[in-house]
Amino acid sequence: MADVPTDNSLNTTKNKAAALHCCPLVLLMASALKSISNPNRTMRIKTVYLATILSSALFSFAHADDKAALMSAGKTAYNSCMACHGADGKGLNLGGGNMMAPAIAGSTYVNGDPSVLALVILKGIQKEGTDYLGMMAPMEAAIPDDEKLASVMTFVRNSFGNTAGVVTKEDATKYRAQWQAEKAAITRAKLKELSK
Ligand code: HEC
Repeated sequence: MADVPTDNSLNTTKNKAAALHCCPLVLLMASALKSISNPNRTMRIKTVYLATILSSALFSFAHADDKAALMSAGKTAYNSCMACHGADGKGLNLGGGNMMAPAIAGSTYVNGDPSVLALVILKGIQKEGTDYLGMMAPMEAAIPDDEKLASVMTFVRNSFGNTAGVVTKEDATKYRAQWQAEKAAITRAKLKELSK
């Protein structure tokens, strides 16, 4: 009978394939380790070079993971913005020129200085004779944790055609502390001034 591979032998093949994939990395690390003990200057330069490549590769993997996690949590958190800003980020249009809120897509405040975006979200905007049916209320009580603040900020800054940077949990903590003393909702005039 033909030699049908059992589950076990299939697994071994898979393991071999996995081991082969790791091979270049292992060789690279081994040569880096070897050259650390080598007093030769060129070798030491090579080591630093290799170490830089390795750590930046690992860092960018970790960074991509962070962004993906923030984006997926942010998508859920955006549910609390959607009723006014719309599922497409263009501002919910009730027809007949009746808009709930302005667009998130292409907004200066979403794509600009992230600390100003945090201020808008946490403290809201004073209603001063706009035609929007909705109101940008302070959301600090609705978003009490910095992970959630970071994720919703990252989501709006990287959705609907926006391509601004990631906001980490650490950034969010910093912004919350920065604006803690601010009691009232922010005026449009102050927002403009902060975004200069
Ligand atoms: C109840 C409706 C409502 C909800 C919910 C809401 N907003 Fe708003 N938002 C508004 C309105 C209305 C304005 C315009 C305020 C004004 O100019 O008076 C606004 C303005 C903004 C602006 C400024 C946009 C610009 O370019 O002028 C940003 C940024 C923003 N909102 C982000 C958010 C985010 C993020 C959330 C969810 C965490 C959210 N909003 C939830 C109604 C809402």
